[in-house]
Amino acid sequence: MSLQTLSEWLRCPNCFLPLHPGGDLLLRCDRGHSFDVNKRGFINLLTGPRKFIGDSAAMLDARDRFLLAGWYSPLRDAIRALVAGESPRRLLDVGCGTGYYLGAALPPGDDVRALGMDLSPIAVSRTIRSHDRVDGLVADVWSPLPLRDGVADTVLNVFAPRNAAEFHRVLRPHGLLLVVVPQPTHLRELRESGLAVEMQADKAAHLTKSLAARFHLESHDQRSRIVELSPPEVVSLIGMGPSAYHAGATAAEGAPDLIRDVTVAFDIFGFRRR
Ligand SMILES: C[S@@+](CC[C@H](N)C(=O)[O-])C[C@H]1O[C@@H](n2cnc3c(N)ncnc32)[C@H](O)[C@@H]1O
Ligand SMILES: [Zn+2]
Repeated sequence: MSLQTLSEWLRCPNCFLPLHPGGDLLLRCDRGHSFDVNKRGFINLLTGPRKFIGDSAAMLDARDRFLLAGWYSPLRDAIRALVAGESPRRLLDVGCGTGYYLGAALPPGDDVRALGMDLSPIAVSRTIRSHDRVDGLVADVWSPLPLRDGVADTVLNVFAPRNAAEFHRVLRPHGLLLVVVPQPTHLRELRESGLAVEMQADKAAHLTKSLAARFHLESHDQRSRIVELSPPEVVSLIGMGPSAYHAGATAAEGAPDLIRDVTVAFDIFGFRRR
């Protein structure tokens, strides 16, 4: 991380003027608003009270365990190939989690940089640890983003909330927005056993409709397979997603002994900025 590369992504969350390095671990705008950069190298630009919290350390640990076992590596490779086709110099991941997809998708090149953004400071901290060309931002996708207009060549949004108007503003003209959402059959076996929360059935239709005014759908890839998981892997899979809030770690640890075959199914959409 350098203050310069981090600041090049950012605008002031108060007055929307660009942020610039303003001293030791400090970014500031020309109106005099200033913000500390964390010693670990990321910046928190959340303002005001929050209704939502990001993923906890326990969820991120579960996500790390599950992803590092390789179960979603076909998805990671598909994302990497789509991003490589764009050759972005600035890659933004909104809702970056542990940085698993961002780290893999970042193209080579000293001047190619990425920004991992998440509501969870622990997530951002882990993401920037994974790569020296990745900067980190704690911000809420539901607020006006503290990101400059047209700053990203490509935006990644994997199993994370999105903001169509803000994604359009921060993406350069004709840039690619890559969105991954679960299919209705995703984790079907866990839902049938009451171990995973119900999912919106028409997620993909809702997504394309919500983006249609600002993006046109360029590609749609569907991936579905059944994976054979060990009981601890089932626990990690439950613990890393929204079901962690509901099923709870204790329930998850007791129940999944019998469940081994689990459907994992995703829609991978490429949307081109209008
Ligand atoms: C299901 S996880 C996906 C993480 C990562 N993209 C992956 O697939 O491994 C959703 C992520 O979105 C983040 N998140 C939730 N609400 C958010 C918000 N309002 N603004 C920004 N990030 C948010 C969570 O902290 C979490 O890291
Ligand atoms: Zn300002």
